[in-house]
Amino acid sequence: MSRQPTLLITQEKIRQTVAKLAAEINRDYRDKQPLLVGILKGSFVFMADLVRQLDLPVELDFIKLSSYGSSTRTSGKVKVVHGMKTNIKGRDVIVVEDIVDTGLTISFVMNYLCKKKPASLKLCALFDKPSQRRIPVSIDYLGFTVPDKFVVGYGIDWNEKFRHLPDLCIID
Ligand code: IMP
Ligand code: MG
Repeated sequence: MSRQPTLLITQEKIRQTVAKLAAEINRDYRDKQPLLVGILKGSFVFMADLVRQLDLPVELDFIKLSSYGSSTRTSGKVKVVHGMKTNIKGRDVIVVEDIVDTGLTISFVMNYLCKKKPASLKLCALFDKPSQRRIPVSIDYLGFTVPDKFVVGYGIDWNEKFRHLPDLCIID
């Protein structure tokens, strides 16, 4: 199996799309103070680029999950390993995720956060891989739809490698 990443989406194209998503959030949350909740670790690059384009008094927090299973596919058995200190009750929450694949991870997160009674709860995902979806997911702010390939870079890893690549790449 080759582990040589090949280019899928350039950093320039990602930059333009992140700016477009930020413009939509700026428009929709004018006069609000949304709380952005990033899912670690994959969303850290996206979150950093996104918030710097926001013209709003945002606050940030992160949650870290663990999922059991192979390194290239989620099992759906998700557990919160690092929760948030921020009380989200009554807050306008935007979940920031790197990639939605089967939908199991993000469905778990949205349910988990919904129980904490935010005023509103939306999802911003940079990449969507709908071909393997097992649970319907509504993505309020979506960057790109990608083919059913294993992608790395721009924060996304394979076995903790390749997160640092500036472009989105495919590995076989
Ligand atoms: P899901 O639960 O199947 O939707 O998977 C979502 C999580 O699996 C994402 O947050 C990623 O961490 C990981 N994931 C899904 N597809 C890929 C991929 O192509 N490359 C790297 N990680 C992925
Ligand atoms: Mg992830």
